Amino acid sequence: MVLQSHKRIMALAGVVMTAYLVFHMLSNLSFFSPDTFEQFYTVYNGVGLRWLALVVMLIAIATHVKIAIKIRKVNAKARTIDYARHDKFKNPAVFVTISILFLLSFILIHIVQSLLFDTSQLYAELIHLFQSFIMVLFYLAGLFVLTMHLQHSLANVLQTLGKTAVIYHSLVWAGVLSLTGGFASIPLYIYFVMP
Ligand code: HEM
Repeated sequence: MVLQSHKRIMALAGVVMTAYLVFHMLSNLSFFSPDTFEQFYTVYNGVGLRWLALVVMLIAIATHVKIAIKIRKVNAKARTIDYARHDKFKNPAVFVTISILFLLSFILIHIVQSLLFDTSQLYAELIHLFQSFIMVLFYLAGLFVLTMHLQHSLANVLQTLGKTAVIYHSLVWAGVLSLTGGFASIPLYIYFVMP
């Protein structure tokens, strides 16, 4: 019972984060039209929307992670004996933990970088950031893990809703890849295409 309500709050935090991500990706795509990009971020930062987005995202991330840890602890307790008996291979949960920790670090590092940006010249800041090959790799790796995480979580949601048909899974893949592909287009364009 407690777990059900926890899962609902976790899913709600997931919805808030996904909504922000769609909005953030679409606003970042205006990078391909420098004037629109500048106009958008002048208003966004001018009316303080960035602080609202930041606070909402930090609360959503903290809630999501806290509940995920709680659910994981409960599940681990419930299954210790069964898994220990059959476990001949290394526990794949270790890789999941590492990838989630990487995703969290990526998001936190990105937020710190965004706070250090000179907001009066965000366009130039992004160009400067993605002239570094290491930064391009770091962002692509973060977006790759985000893709796997979103796909896996949404597949679980589909399963819970009893939607197991291939079409639903294809739609999830299409949505997730459009989102992360949209984000990835910016570092790739800056590094490989821009003069
Ligand atoms: C290549 C991909 C990305 C680019 C180019 C990008 C770009 C930016 C920029 C320019 C800002 C500063 C906005 C401002 O000063 O108003 C920012 C802020 C932020 N970004 Fe990203 N971002 C990317 C990916 C992500 C991802 C994947 C996440 C979350 C998982 C994320 C979360 C945030 C948050 C929470 C903020 C602070 C709140 C805000 O200003 O909206 N970003 N990002």
